[in-house]
Amino acid sequence: MDKIIIAVDGFSSSGKSTMARRLASAIGYRYIDSGAMYRAVTLYAIRENIASVADGTLDSARLEAALPTINIDFAPGPDGQRTLLNGEDVEEEIRSMAVSSMVSPVAALPAVRHALTEMQRRMGSTRGIVMDGRDIGTTVFPDAEMKVFVNASAETRARRRFLELAAKKQPASYEDVLANVVHRDTIDTTRAESPLRQAPDAVVLDNGDMTIEEQDAWMLDLFNRITSHR
Ligand code: DC
Repeated sequence: MDKIIIAVDGFSSSGKSTMARRLASAIGYRYIDSGAMYRAVTLYAIRENIASVADGTLDSARLEAALPTINIDFAPGPDGQRTLLNGEDVEEEIRSMAVSSMVSPVAALPAVRHALTEMQRRMGSTRGIVMDGRDIGTTVFPDAEMKVFVNASAETRARRRFLELAAKKQPASYEDVLANVVHRDTIDTTRAESPLRQAPDAVVLDNGDMTIEEQDAWMLDLFNRITSHR
């Protein structure tokens, strides 16, 4: 059977990465976290003083000029995939609140989106991938055979991210996490370039009340239905 491309889009902390990663592992596909790529570019910008966490400023011209020198890749790790920024494992650092606070303005820059879209299409050229993000079913792979759009309330998503950060010993208040989630929703849905939108042919899943096992079963069922027609 030919391998397909699977796009999983949705709001931040909607659980789409978990769903995408687990489906990929169940069906033997490669999982690609496109949000990690935007986070890695943001980390680069913070380290090079191109983006300031303190005052929220971003030197878009300098970041655009630096893009050809930024290489992002993934490597397998003991607990899943590790994100590499110019060869350095930055998997933990890209999940910090500092990166989260600057990633939406970075991801809104057209030059950043074009560069990462290109990289993502190259990664998908062999097919057999599950990629999650915001614009995978609309812009990166509009012809993806399976498209899922994941939704859940801002409070549910903030609670998840809060517990995730606490488990990783990266303390933050629930109120700050919720404010960050709502703020990113606004930027992600209103930016001019590839805003977060549900693709017309995406299947919507509200997973607010679902267990991980129920999500796994739902994804696998959809995959089996789509591939059985091929
Ligand atoms: O999924 P995440 O929270 O790790 O994504 C981090 C940020 O990257 C998010 O605020 C929006 C942006 N993003 C994007 O604009 N397009 C994508 N395909 C993936 C993420």
